Amino acid sequence: MEPMPMSSSHHLVTGATSGIGLELAARLLADPASRLVVGARRPEAAAALRALAGPDRLAILPLDLASLASTAAFAELVRSHLAGGALASFAANAGLQITGPCRLTADGYEETFQANFLGHAVLIERLLPHLAPGAPVVLTASGTHDPTIRTARMFGFRGGLFVGADRTAKGDLDSAAPPKQQGMDRYATSKLCAILHVYALARRAAAGGPRFIAFDPGLMPGTGLARERSGLERWAWSNVLPVLARAMPGTSTARYSATAYADILTGRAFPRGTGLHVDYKLAEAPSSPDSRREDWQDELLRFVERVALER
Ligand SMILES: NC(=O)c1ccc[n+]([C@@H]2O[C@H](COP(=O)([O-])OP(=O)(O)OC[C@H]3O[C@@H](n4cnc5c(N)ncnc54)[C@H](OP(=O)(O)O)[C@@H]3O)[C@@H](O)[C@H]2O)c1
Repeated sequence: MEPMPMSSSHHLVTGATSGIGLELAARLLADPASRLVVGARRPEAAAALRALAGPDRLAILPLDLASLASTAAFAELVRSHLAGGALASFAANAGLQITGPCRLTADGYEETFQANFLGHAVLIERLLPHLAPGAPVVLTASGTHDPTIRTARMFGFRGGLFVGADRTAKGDLDSAAPPKQQGMDRYATSKLCAILHVYALARRAAAGGPRFIAFDPGLMPGTGLARERSGLERWAWSNVLPVLARAMPGTSTARYSATAYADILTGRAFPRGTGLHVDYKLAEAPSSPDSRREDWQDELLRFVERVALER
């Protein structure tokens, strides 16, 4: 199938300072006609990104997804950067894993929920009028959302636990579990929320509008995702797992998965698809039965719409 014609060359990527996001930025910028807008919370972490292209093709704007004020300010900056143009795609990719005690943001939400899910969801609401017709909006998902995925279980994940939007947003998922398990549950739940939201947005969308896709990049050991783990765990994540993982199902590399991601963003893959859950091999993959619950999708969408209106 032919890719959809793109009326714009501007792609927007979050979390492009490291891991799969940095690889994705390199792939998108490999096309000399493309331009990239990224949000970075730590300008000092953006050196590798800056080396990919000059300011004529690459705009690095401040964004802390764990702050609604920063998210709103970023949306304004993107709007003025586009100067009336439209985004060809949006990769809602940034994410973090916190395995310590529950951390609430200044907005009063649990940090994993806000940085991984809510910040992106609010950004989507704000940027909807600035997305080109048919533009793919891709949320980075994860097999950890699904309790039946063996590799995720091996690492201690037991699937997302959606306990209603208000409680989930506070990180109050299972207070009887040990703190580390609660942190892993919050991560898996942020990814379950991302998939629930993709399905809800696809159902809400008008024909010809943006398309919504959840992308599971597979397990990619060696990225910065383990930065909040203990020293030993971080060492194993960067030095042992990249070798061991080759024998495990569902594992990939940031480079391999970024190529698939770029194919979705540029319309080479799934040129008209929406409401999809897709893996790093560019196959449509089943997501968990929980993610298919339309009552949860609708509740979460109402929650996001309310938060977006408040700010
Ligand atoms: N690695 C895996 O095995 C795996 C598997 C499934 C899904 N994923 C998902 O893939 C995505 C990328 O992760 P990765 O593995 O590439 O990890 P990574 O190397 O740690 O990259 C994460 C990116 O997110 C950014 N980020 C984190 N918190 C942010 C915030 N509050 N505001 C703005 N940016 C923020 C980081 O920016 P800084 O440089 O400022 O920290 C970094 O650029 C995440 O959504 C992750 O959940 C990863």
